[in-house]
Amino acid sequence: MIHDTASPKEEPTEFAPPPPLPLLEGLATTRSIRRYTSDPILDEDLATMLFSATRAPTGSNRQNFRFVVLRDGPIALQAKALLGEAFRKGWSEKRSDDGYDQGSGAAENSPKARTARAMQHFVDHFEQTPVVVLGCIRGRHRAFQDGASIFPACQNLLLAARALGYGGVMTGWHRMVENELRQLIGIPEEVTIAATIPLGKPQGNHGPVRRRPLQELVYDDAWEQPAAWANDPEGTRFTQAGPPRERP
Ligand SMILES: Cc1cc2nc3c(=O)[nH]c(=O)nc-3n(C[C@H](O)[C@H](O)[C@H](O)COP(=O)(O)O)c2cc1C
Repeated sequence: MIHDTASPKEEPTEFAPPPPLPLLEGLATTRSIRRYTSDPILDEDLATMLFSATRAPTGSNRQNFRFVVLRDGPIALQAKALLGEAFRKGWSEKRSDDGYDQGSGAAENSPKARTARAMQHFVDHFEQTPVVVLGCIRGRHRAFQDGASIFPACQNLLLAARALGYGGVMTGWHRMVENELRQLIGIPEEVTIAATIPLGKPQGNHGPVRRRPLQELVYDDAWEQPAAWANDPEGTRFTQAGPPRERP
C-alpha cells in the first residue's frame, strides 16, 4: 500500500506521524517533491532526516560530508533569496534549451506543459520553501571518492523525509551563486556545495516513480547482453523520459 502524505490545505495543519513505510516501498515511491505546504518541518523530524543522511556510506568512512540547514535564520533567508534567483535563472535556461514550450509543450494539458508549470511554480516560490539543505563535501578538487561520497547521504535524506511525511528534491542550480553562498555562509575554499535539497510537506503525492523498463537498464554478464531474470514487478508503469532508445 502506498501511504498518502499529501495535505489538501495550505494552512499549517496538525501533523500526525505517517504509518511506518517498508524500505523497498519507500525506495520505489520517493518522488521529487517541488511543491510544499506552509507547514514547518518539526525539529525532531529534521534531526531524524539528518541522522539518516549521515548514516550513508562515504569512501573509507571519511564522513567528509557536511550539511548546512537553511531554516528561518537571517543568513538562511538571504541564502534562500540568492538561491531563488539562481533557480529561476536555471529553470528559465532549461525551459528554453530543452524546448519545454515547443511541440507537445504548446498544448496546455500535455505532460510537458504540466511539468513546465510545476517547475515554474517551484522556482517562483523557492523563498517560501520551509527548509533548504546544502549537501557539502570536503575536498574540492579531489577525485571520485570524495565527490561521490555526498550523494548516498543526500538520497538517504530524501528517503527519510519521505518516511516522515515530507518530500524534497535533489538539485544543482546553486552553482551560479556558489561563490556568493560560500561568502554568505562562510563555506571554506576546500568545500564544494554538491547539492541543494529543498524540503517540506508535499502539496501533491508521493507515489511510484516511473523509470525505463529494467530490460533497458540492466545487462547480464556483458554490455547490452539482456538480463532475462530482470523483470519489473507486475503493474510497473514506465516513463518515456531519458536518452533515445537504441534498441526496440
Ligand atoms: C544529480 C541530480 C541533479 C538534479 N538537479 C535538479 C535540478 O537542478 N533541478 C530540479 O528541479 N531537479 C533536479 N533533479 C531532480 C530530477 O529532475 C528528478 O529526480 C528526475 O526528473 C526524476 O523525477 P522523480 O524523482 O520524481 O521520479 C536532479 C536529480 C539528480 C539526481
